[in-house]
Amino acid sequence: MIELDDSYFIAKGNNRSCFRHPLDPAKCIKVDTLKKMGPTEKEARYYQTLARIRPDLDYSYVPRFYGFVETNLGRGGVFDLIMDEGSLEVSKTFEFYLKDGRVAADDPLWIEAHRRILEGLFRDSIIIRDLHVRNFCARKMLDGSIRLVAIDGIGHRDFIPLCNYSRWAANRKLRRQIARKDFHSLDAIIHRFNLPRELRRLGGKKRTA
Ligand SMILES: Nc1ncnc2c1ncn2[C@@H]1O[C@H](COP(=O)(O)OP(=O)(O)OP(=O)(O)O)[C@@H](O)[C@H]1O
Ligand SMILES: [Mg+2]
Repeated sequence: MIELDDSYFIAKGNNRSCFRHPLDPAKCIKVDTLKKMGPTEKEARYYQTLARIRPDLDYSYVPRFYGFVETNLGRGGVFDLIMDEGSLEVSKTFEFYLKDGRVAADDPLWIEAHRRILEGLFRDSIIIRDLHVRNFCARKMLDGSIRLVAIDGIGHRDFIPLCNYSRWAANRKLRRQIARKDFHSLDAIIHRFNLPRELRRLGGKKRTA
């Protein structure tokens, strides 16, 4: 059994805590904090499906999933730990940089990062259910660019999983999620991020009102 303690702790979301893997510095362990059949279990199922339907998936934009391990805090999912390229520094989230005021709508660095993640997700037809800025790590690359990596909300919960069989359906679903969460442009993301929480749920609809 793997012992996790505060010295490995990275961050916590609403549903799970993320730790560095004590035995592998390139990986992290995510432990569900609330429910038994938590989000990691559901994500794991989608990863299993992905391995089957997208055997050549480019894991630049989503971490790899390596299965489960037993820890002192319960069962944990093992994933790639997203670190800045060429360093052991865990990448900060996209939300961190937005809060910090470092993301401007006209900044080519961030425009390109945003363009590339969408391009990558559509190319591989990967669905991200929870498109929220806290669910992306912003990886600093050695060439000075930023690479956004989706670290949470990967997959869908459709009862009839049409989008596992049809890329067209998967991309349509992804497009809808993007529209719903105002993820289509960097400008829209920044605008939504700056909206009060209650307006964010309306998809920033007050914008043109
Ligand atoms: N693969 C990873 N590499 C680096 N950091 C990660 C990784 N996965 C998660 N994190 C960090 O841990 C935090 C919590 O992880 P995650 O978003 O998966 O938890 P959650 O509880 O499912 O989130 P939410 O509150 O969005 O439901 C992230 O915001 C991020 O800071
Ligand atoms: Mg999250």
